[in-house]
Amino acid sequence: MTPIKSRTQVAIIGGGPSGLLLGQLLQRQGIDNVILEARSGDYVLGRIRAGVLEEITVRKLREAGCAARLEAEGLVHHGTGISFGGTLHRIDIHALTAGKVVTVYGQTEVTRDLMYARAQSGGITAYEASDVALHDLQGSAPRVTYQQGGQRHELACDFIAGCDGYHGVSRRSIPAQSLRTYERVYPFGWLGVLADVPALPELVYANHERGFALCSMRSPTRSRYYVQCPVDEDLSAWPDSRFWDELLQRVDPLTASRIVTGPSIEKSIAPLRSFVAEPLRYNRLFLVGDAAHIVPPTGAKGLNLAASDVHYLSEALFEQYLERSMAGIEDYSRKALSRIWKAERFSWWMTSLLHRFPEQDSFSLALQRAELDYLMSSETAQRLLAENYVGLPV
Ligand code: APR
Ligand code: PHB
Repeated sequence: MTPIKSRTQVAIIGGGPSGLLLGQLLQRQGIDNVILEARSGDYVLGRIRAGVLEEITVRKLREAGCAARLEAEGLVHHGTGISFGGTLHRIDIHALTAGKVVTVYGQTEVTRDLMYARAQSGGITAYEASDVALHDLQGSAPRVTYQQGGQRHELACDFIAGCDGYHGVSRRSIPAQSLRTYERVYPFGWLGVLADVPALPELVYANHERGFALCSMRSPTRSRYYVQCPVDEDLSAWPDSRFWDELLQRVDPLTASRIVTGPSIEKSIAPLRSFVAEPLRYNRLFLVGDAAHIVPPTGAKGLNLAASDVHYLSEALFEQYLERSMAGIEDYSRKALSRIWKAERFSWWMTSLLHRFPEQDSFSLALQRAELDYLMSSETAQRLLAENYVGLPV
């Protein structure tokens, strides 16, 4: 039975990657925190999400004491493929960034490792906490109330970290006049398939007249593939055979020759959106991760932006509690938003470069092709892609 506390230093709303990583970093510095998670642990673990980790994310997981399995099982990638015009091109990320890499390690496994570490450290997570509500946000003694096990509970705290995702309660608890939001909804979705078939050696992003496709993986024997589809597409119209046929048409022949097809173990359609809320602080409430921003998955930035938000906020809270300085807290929003907007730009650029847009005219198609040709003929252009892909400095 989860122990119930009436007071903590930092109340964390949401037990996804943001909340778990923040909780673990605070725990290791002796800063008391409680996570309130609406769903069960199994439900949180059941989410299928991308896992292309920037070096900052790997570093934060190491600092959280959760990187052992990642370092043993993570796939270190030195490059990524761009497929267009019937040819597979390669961006040599390692060479272009003076030795940086990305690590492929599924978000489910990141979450599993964080959950295990939290249990080992004695950190309290109240799962299936419903009706979470934030109170007294204007004052110096915020409170959180919630229902669990049929009982109403109240948690007094110094600070609240809103790690409860795009649909969470935290951002909605900030008065509308105190928040600016920016949004772009893309006119297509991604149809994704998970299959236990041998993975390609590296990711391949494909621009094709039939639409975008992506070849990715979770492990050497578990592949993740996507094809662009209409946002209102009916999943039942996509038996495995149709999915594989479409994927093989959208990639170059060399990539197609390497793809091993097989029965899907998961199939779903996800919409694409860019979203940012500003500022990320409302007195003693902070927005973190998907609660603050959403990126289209094309740049694989979602989990990595959550990690850099957690980096900035955890450092700020260390200063507050260990050095009695509010400087980090005062500067959290500005520092986090600076990196967030650069990742939003990169994710929008990758999405614009690789997808077919319904109303695209011949001129914009020609521009897209010119951008791809320029990318593959210019080391400078490839370096710009590579340095954003591995993650800009924090
Ligand atoms: N009360 C408590 N918990 C809530 C509430 C609420 N009102 N609303 C949502 N939650 C929980 C969700 O159940 C979820 O487990 O908050 C958690 C938010 O987790 P994520 O949505 O995964 O967001 P985050 O932790 O910021 O992780 C960002 O997840 O969506 C991907 O691409 C994104 O990889 C990125 C990562
Ligand atoms: C994934 O493996 O799900 C994935 C990888 C890279 C992306 C998006 C998704 O850019």
